[in-house]
Amino acid sequence: MCGIVGYIGQKNSIPILLEGLRRLEYRGYDSAGIAFFHEDNLMVYKQAGKVAELASLVENIGMAPNLGVGHTRWATHGEPTDLNAHPHWDCKNEIAVIHNGIIENYMTLKKKLERDGHVIRTETDTEVLAHLIEDYHKKNHDLFTSVRLALLEVEGTYGILVIAKNEPDKIIAARRGSPLVLGVGENENFVASDAAALIDHTRQVIYLEDDEISCISANSFTTKTIHDLQITKQIEEITFDLEQIEKGGFDHFMLKEILEQPESLRNAIRGRLRVDEGKVKLGGLEPVLDRLYKARRFIITACGTSWHSALVGKYMIEQLARIPVEVDYASEFRYRNPIVDPDDILFVISQSGETADTLAALREARSKGAGVLGIVNVVGSSIARETDAGVFIHAGPEIGVASTKAFTSQIAVLGLIALFIGQRNNLPHAQCKLLAEDLAALPNKVQKIFEQIDHIKAIAEEFKNSQNFIYLGRGSNFPTALEGALKLKEISYIHAEGYPAAEMKHGPIALIDENMPVVFIVPKDAIYDKIISNMQEVRARKGRIIAIANEDDENINRLAEFVIRVPRTLNYFGPIINIIPLQLLAYYIAVARGCNVDQPRNLAKSVTVE
Ligand code: G6P
Repeated sequence: MCGIVGYIGQKNSIPILLEGLRRLEYRGYDSAGIAFFHEDNLMVYKQAGKVAELASLVENIGMAPNLGVGHTRWATHGEPTDLNAHPHWDCKNEIAVIHNGIIENYMTLKKKLERDGHVIRTETDTEVLAHLIEDYHKKNHDLFTSVRLALLEVEGTYGILVIAKNEPDKIIAARRGSPLVLGVGENENFVASDAAALIDHTRQVIYLEDDEISCISANSFTTKTIHDLQITKQIEEITFDLEQIEKGGFDHFMLKEILEQPESLRNAIRGRLRVDEGKVKLGGLEPVLDRLYKARRFIITACGTSWHSALVGKYMIEQLARIPVEVDYASEFRYRNPIVDPDDILFVISQSGETADTLAALREARSKGAGVLGIVNVVGSSIARETDAGVFIHAGPEIGVASTKAFTSQIAVLGLIALFIGQRNNLPHAQCKLLAEDLAALPNKVQKIFEQIDHIKAIAEEFKNSQNFIYLGRGSNFPTALEGALKLKEISYIHAEGYPAAEMKHGPIALIDENMPVVFIVPKDAIYDKIISNMQEVRARKGRIIAIANEDDENINRLAEFVIRVPRTLNYFGPIINIIPLQLLAYYIAVARGCNVDQPRNLAKSVTVE
């Protein structure tokens, strides 16, 4: 997500910070800022836009501070504006904070701080940290202790750097769930969210762990846990080169993003799901609750992978909230003079928030009086700005052209929405609780699938020269089949089709022979036996079956040539689990064919033309 860099030493920190931020640009961001000391003053320069624009602002200001911190922001709370950019101040502009992550309880903290007289100036979750630290600092704690005590009040994730006017010889760094690495130099030290920002200066690093806090000066650093236990950290040597670091040590962004899904899913549900109560809270929908509850019909429109998640959304919302849902390609919706009335709600789903057809569909529905809500990744994007309200998926920047983590996070958010409306529309409490528990368990289940990567690689090797693939699934796994087929054709250029399994006999069965790989998504649900019959039909025609099946399915080996096992989950959320092996299969087939996985031919990450 966001990028962090800090420097303390003998040199001018400004060019070091700017270069560090440039090194982190690949992660995606929407604003940038730095803070440093100049003649006893704490200075902050920050703005929406690129690091190059920040550079033109600060490069020739004639200051050469020996200590500074810098940040690139990927907006989560509040639009990407100059004001919301980091660093953030306390009330007196004497403490500056930069932060990656999400403070879940920031609303509660904000209310408490405002009651105590603090003036909060931005829409961010981060700013409350600066004020919280200020409170402890006022009580005569040193900066290190103030930050440590403030963090004890924080729920959520953070990688933070803090500097303060009256202690201008140190940077305080702390992390929980958002990485920070210290770079050790000679009479100088560095700190960053990602080793890419340090590698020009040093290869000697110390990785901070969760709940650790460091006090960094030019010649030393000390580390404790936030619970005040002293820790001795080991210095390690970076062996990666820059390109490998940018990709998190993986060969491609796509693989990195596939493997990030446990974390991106956690971010999608963080602060929104109360598992013990079986309840969902969606602050982003609060401004439109009346309209949402009155709606007689939902329409969901999107393109590409986002359209596939819309199909899963239809399934979940109709089943759990009992509201009819229509799903349409944005490009079709806008040109068919759709029947839309003011009682309808249109949801638009978009990773980038910039897809031209989706934006046009949104405008079409709005012109007909419908309420328009967004399920978007990029905060501040055109779609996020033009919708009445919505829910951000918080997947972080997605760089690989083939969408992976955005898909699973979109479905998680659609699941939250289905549950949110369902709990109001008389979905029994016990069922809500079960669903909430299942949703919360998804990240760990996704993680478990990664244990089979070598097995999936071997299957990819077996089928890398295939010309065609068929993907079959039913219910909510029909869209999973479509998405699995899309992944394969996008990045490996193998022709692939997704079908509802029972439709196979109305056409695709004619294609099946001993050369045809057929991927079945066959969880142990109410229609398991029906899919088994479809598998028999394929087997009888010598098709080569790859099954995505549950861990406890003992019969499947008799029918399928290859089986990839996935943990059981409620069928509503099954696509989140079942798509993971299909993403990996497509990825490893494309790699085995020597394809350019991150930038497949003819495709664009964001399609801003019709
Ligand atoms: C392009 C991308 C796809 C994406 C689609 C919709 O085709 O290559 O990965 O699913 O656009 O994009 P959106 O940003 O609106 O989700």
